Amino acid sequence: MSLGLIGERVSLRPLTVADVSDDYVAWMNDPITNRFMETRWRAHSRADVEGFVADKAASSSEHLFGIFLTGDGRHVGNLKIGPIDANHGRGDLSYFIGETDLRGQGVASEAVALGVRIAFEQLKLRKLTAGIYARNGESGRVLAKNGFAAEGRRPSHFAFEGGRDDMVEYGLLNPSA
Ligand SMILES: CC(C)(COP(=O)(O)OP(=O)(O)OC[C@H]1O[C@@H](n2cnc3c(N)ncnc32)[C@H](O)[C@@H]1OP(=O)(O)O)[C@@H](O)C(=O)NCCC(=O)NCCS
Repeated sequence: MSLGLIGERVSLRPLTVADVSDDYVAWMNDPITNRFMETRWRAHSRADVEGFVADKAASSSEHLFGIFLTGDGRHVGNLKIGPIDANHGRGDLSYFIGETDLRGQGVASEAVALGVRIAFEQLKLRKLTAGIYARNGESGRVLAKNGFAAEGRRPSHFAFEGGRDDMVEYGLLNPSA
């Protein structure tokens, strides 16, 4: 079965090395995009990004999707389901919108809605989890709008901008499994 879904404004399909563009490499090195991402700890070359995408494309436990605008097909961000723990039927969800001019328009909310459907309907997972920086209000809002519940908080979990931040752990159960 091929994974992916076409939504109203965005579509998700597995990312391939051919999708790696200068814009995508620039997102990985952009302090606005990677403010709350672990990619921020080092610089990323095109070869690094291509290697990452190739690695995920070959993986059965991590599924990396591109978020593409349904209208013009522009690649605007990524969504990852994984690592997946098959024993527990559980997967981790993460995402970003690299095209910062598109933020705040519901793009991530729709992409996460599609990602939830892929996880539950196509991958048959029982549960999705997402761990975010407590200060990442936008991301918490995207998860809450998609039905995720805040399940726990790990104090001072992250080094962040010269201080510390908590991690908030979100979860969503598959209602039909
Ligand atoms: C988090 C991110 C994915 C959100 O993308 P987006 O397309 O702008 O998200 P949406 O427009 O769908 O929704 C954002 C929501 O947060 C709200 N919001 C914006 N700033 C906020 C803040 N500081 N605190 C709380 N909510 C906020 C918006 O109003 C919107 O909610 P609404 O639709 O109810 O008005 C994007 O900012 C991003 O890529 N950030 C960097 C990477 C990242 O943090 N990824 C998450 C780690 S898993």
